[in-house]
Amino acid sequence: MIIVSDTNERADLFSADFQRRLARWNRERLAPSQPRTDWRDELDHEFEMRVAEREFLDTLRAQVADAAAEAPTKPDEFVEWFEELENSGPGQNDPLFAWLANEASRDHIAWFLEQEAAGEAGFDDLVAMTQVKIPDQAKLELARNYWDEMGRGNLRGMHGPMLARLTQTMELTPRIETTVAESLALANAMTAMATSRQYAWHSIGALGVIELTAPGRSKCTAAGLRRIGLSNSQRIYFDLHATLDVKHSEEWNKEALLPLVSEDPSRARAMAEGALMRLRCGERCFARYRRELWGDLAGSTEHRVPQLASAA
Ligand SMILES: [Fe+2]
Ligand SMILES: [Fe+2]
Repeated sequence: MIIVSDTNERADLFSADFQRRLARWNRERLAPSQPRTDWRDELDHEFEMRVAEREFLDTLRAQVADAAAEAPTKPDEFVEWFEELENSGPGQNDPLFAWLANEASRDHIAWFLEQEAAGEAGFDDLVAMTQVKIPDQAKLELARNYWDEMGRGNLRGMHGPMLARLTQTMELTPRIETTVAESLALANAMTAMATSRQYAWHSIGALGVIELTAPGRSKCTAAGLRRIGLSNSQRIYFDLHATLDVKHSEEWNKEALLPLVSEDPSRARAMAEGALMRLRCGERCFARYRRELWGDLAGSTEHRVPQLASAA
């Protein structure tokens, strides 16, 4: 089991206030817009936010640095180490997911999905921003993955809108203001890595570890949705990711991680850090979700009394 350290954690960088500010800025700065006359003020604001964002990334990175330093730098061994994260990575096998599959009520599942949807950074755009100027073989793999995200050219098959249809079916209203800091922190960390070129290899590690670990969580979420009565077509986003991401992960590791580490072994550490940063953010989310959903008995997996608490 890989344990990451919480030492030197700056509470201000993980607060709801800070994460909401970062989330709102990400929403604004990535939205297509038009030239503004006050662009100097906007750039001043951007500088201030990017400094804060970098401090947040540096803190996350410091927490996983020791664990990531253990990652091998030989390509085959690195991929083996990376794949093992599915079992031993931070937050893996969290009891939240068996509970969602077998016990959670419709309200509990709705709350969970609302948190996840509000924190969703958009895998397709993260891949698109990450692939800029990377070596050809890896770029091709990111392109194939992106094309799948795009439903291979079919609007109905696009993954983002598929999730949006589920949130409509469940009548969810994902909003930054009602989303817990941990969920926003995860999305903010992914966006920060994908938009900062110094974190490009980190982003490839973080996106790869999502592909590696999503199938297990998606399977449980799909089972919960089936249990509360959603049809095959309503559940399709999670049913699809329970199987498709197994293939995505294998190909990402073979076509992106392997050649990138063969070309420059120092990238192994960056990718390991990115993967562990993403998993650590997920681990924090699951613990917070359990606290909210299970109330005071969050630590116990035996004597739970689910109760729906409001998001702070
Ligand atoms: Fe997807
Ligand atoms: Fe995928």
